[in-house]
Amino acid sequence: MRFLLLLLVPLVAPLLVDGQEDYCFGKDSDRPQTAQFASKTAYQIVKSSNIDKQYLVPGCEAKKMWVFHRHGTRLPKSGTIKKASRLIELRDQIVKNYREAKTKPDTNALCTEDLIAIQLWKGNSSITPDMDEFLTSQGYDDLRGTAKLYQRYYPTVLPKDYNDTYYQFRHTDTQRTTESFKAFAEGLFGTGNAAHPVDIPKDDLLLRPYDYCQSYKELNYKGEGSEYHKYTQSALWNSTLADISTRLGYLYTLDQADILLMYDTCRYEQAWQVDRTSVWCGAFLPEQVTVFEYAEDLKYYYGSGYGFEEDTARLNCRLVQDMLTHLSNPVSPHVIAHFGHTTGLQTLITALGVRKDDIKLRADNYNSLTNRRWKTSILGPFAANFVAVKYDCPAALDKEKAVFFLNQDAVQLDWCSVGLCNWSEVLQRYKTLADANCDEYFCRSGASSLAGGALSSLLASFLLAAVVYLMH
Ligand SMILES: *[C@@H]1O[C@H](CO)[C@@H](O)[C@H](O)[C@H]1NC(C)=O
Ligand SMILES: *[C@@H]1O[C@H](CO)[C@@H](O)[C@H](O)[C@H]1NC(C)=O
Ligand SMILES: *[C@@H]1O[C@H](CO)[C@@H](O)[C@H](O)[C@H]1NC(C)=O
Ligand SMILES: *[C@@H]1O[C@H](CO)[C@@H](O)[C@H](O)[C@H]1NC(C)=O
Repeated sequence: MRFLLLLLVPLVAPLLVDGQEDYCFGKDSDRPQTAQFASKTAYQIVKSSNIDKQYLVPGCEAKKMWVFHRHGTRLPKSGTIKKASRLIELRDQIVKNYREAKTKPDTNALCTEDLIAIQLWKGNSSITPDMDEFLTSQGYDDLRGTAKLYQRYYPTVLPKDYNDTYYQFRHTDTQRTTESFKAFAEGLFGTGNAAHPVDIPKDDLLLRPYDYCQSYKELNYKGEGSEYHKYTQSALWNSTLADISTRLGYLYTLDQADILLMYDTCRYEQAWQVDRTSVWCGAFLPEQVTVFEYAEDLKYYYGSGYGFEEDTARLNCRLVQDMLTHLSNPVSPHVIAHFGHTTGLQTLITALGVRKDDIKLRADNYNSLTNRRWKTSILGPFAANFVAVKYDCPAALDKEKAVFFLNQDAVQLDWCSVGLCNWSEVLQRYKTLADANCDEYFCRSGASSLAGGALSSLLASFLLAAVVYLMH
């Protein structure tokens, strides 16, 4: 009997190895990696359903709402749109590797289904470079959907009749946020509604303070010496690029730019059509996507999160004040909704101390931070939204309360009780920001952008001149 088994092993083993190790994206019904695409994750995949159990607060009535909403799913920047021809070259090379050069690897090869899908891939020729970062139809649906959802939970706070005293909308000066506002209004009031946004000032310090702050722009979040840069020079990163190249039948390691182009295309296509399969996602194993996700998280952690908290948490002085002032005041507007960008959202959560890890994210602690709170896939996907709901609780000792939702999940702050916060405590916790003079507080090395920048570069050249003078 044992002899027979031993005889069979060599016959069966290769089949088992094949069957077990060739991951097949096209056949995977779970596709966990699609929930790990960082800021290009589809909202539908990561949104929470917890709000269902959290929106009703016994003894309290929802009165007001304040929203900061990232735009929905968009097209790539024109630079990436222009690279469609490179993708076609890569597609043809991969097929040639497998079919002609026969360089299919022994393990972790593309399954036949994924290979055929890549072979049949065609770009979308109606996406042209002039459509730089435009909202897609899925992106429109994203915002129409969140509006309808919040209206279903809070019908009295979000009435179906538009009233421009009651509602106040504002968006940044881009196509994708303008369209996102329209989609949100359509979700609330139906088509052909009269909803209109407030005027956008020339310097939009409320929704895009980061564009006017020189010292913020100078933070090194991804250049040489940054944790992101160190991570993308690490052995883990290098072996990931090498493994992906081998998987695609290359006998050398592809340029990082080529691999990231395929990765971006996978993420975009998956978000454009959530219920379909993006062909390019088949190029990567789930664990390789996890390696990429950490790089993205590092970039955002230092670019707009807790990495440089001293700076990033101060940027949104005006936005935090806007929220506190509106929600404290019993008069209209009762609903304030802002439509902005991922940097705005991430720096807002940072200012509020939401999803902060005890340990800083670094290039070398990927392995120990797999359960980190700072996951941009979860906190900042397309159409990510931060919603503060103010409640009146007549019978309670503290009559004013609030719940903060991030992507439909109540934010758990340790000074609130399972997501329910006393408003007096909210004001206390954010007192520094609430009391600050944002013109001075906002950008420490020079209050306003250009003046500050010019002054510091003038100072720098003066210092340089002095040093050069002293050296002689
Ligand atoms: C191609 O892109 C355009 C613009 O985003 C979109 O309207 C259209 O549905 C896309 N076509 C396909 C086949 O995905
Ligand atoms: C609009 O809302 C405000 C505040 O709730 C209310 O006082 C006013 O009567 C409303 N106007 C109309 C036309 O419904
Ligand atoms: C990873 O690759 C880069 C670029 O090829 C190289 O500079 C770096 O030294 C490599 N890192 C390691 C740990 O081998
Ligand atoms: C909210 O305020 C009430 C009354 O002052 C207090 O009993 C309760 O502990 C507070 N809740 C939290 C989470 O601090």
